[in-house]
Amino acid sequence: MVEIIDGKAAAAAVVEKVTAASAELATAGITPGLAVVLVGEDPASQVYVASKSKRAKECGFHSVQHSLPADTSQEELLALVESLNSDPAIHGILVQLPLPDHIDSGRIIQTVAPEKDVDGFHFINVGKLGTGEIGTAFVPCTPTGAMLLLEGVRGKDLSGLNAVVVGRSNIVGKPMANLLLAANATVTIAHSRTKDLPGLARTADILVAAVGRPGMINGDWVKPGATVIDVGINRIPAPEKGEGKTRLVGDVAFAEAEKVAGAITPVPGGVGPMTIAMLMANTLISAYRAAGKEPPAL
Ligand code: GUN
Repeated sequence: MVEIIDGKAAAAAVVEKVTAASAELATAGITPGLAVVLVGEDPASQVYVASKSKRAKECGFHSVQHSLPADTSQEELLALVESLNSDPAIHGILVQLPLPDHIDSGRIIQTVAPEKDVDGFHFINVGKLGTGEIGTAFVPCTPTGAMLLLEGVRGKDLSGLNAVVVGRSNIVGKPMANLLLAANATVTIAHSRTKDLPGLARTADILVAAVGRPGMINGDWVKPGATVIDVGINRIPAPEKGEGKTRLVGDVAFAEAEKVAGAITPVPGGVGPMTIAMLMANTLISAYRAAGKEPPAL
């Protein structure tokens, strides 16, 4: 029987631990602070940012949201990031991506203080992850959440297992590959230029899909018994629900893949809820580090 991995339950368990640890910090007079910055009116980003701010409040955090107009200049955004860098009440800074085209995203990301970079996008944090210094790094939220789900199925040590990550983005594919490697998996990163992608995918005991193409990974790409982690969140038309309606699907053709996989994450309700939970975890960790305290295991 295939195991449908319950990301909602796993995320709720993380949030519960974060909330308890946050209450514990409060007894020492410390409140974890998260600042989320949104530039422009992208509807999907607005929904994500509102959920992040709301969840931060639920965890007992000091939660600040900066919503700036689409024509905000790069200088104005840099000035805001710098003021958050020097604000002792803020432990985590997240600038929602994508930013408008006139802003150099790389410049903004590298301006966030590495010790407040709860997204894990700063070169210092990318470098720490790449060299195995995970204990002092911030690791991007989506791959960290995906690893936690994988751990629930396969345990912490992936020795002897082949992992194939489809997708090479800086936000998911590359950090995911590094985390799998740190857990002793044998890792291949595949992408649009890979030869015989289906054949390669069929070698995977752990198959991670992070490409952003609805249903691209068919059931016959999946090795029998494999653990399939679907990171894709794609909105597609759903005329069966009514005119103009949409629904969310992953990068994996779920109905086919669940017949072959040993365990699989659904979309929605798989990796998605873990992203925000791990953002809360990273913010909590940052507050512990700032206080010179050892962060709890989550
Ligand atoms: N846009 C989509 N995913 C993310 C993320 O994990 N962090 C930020 N900052 N923006 C995103």
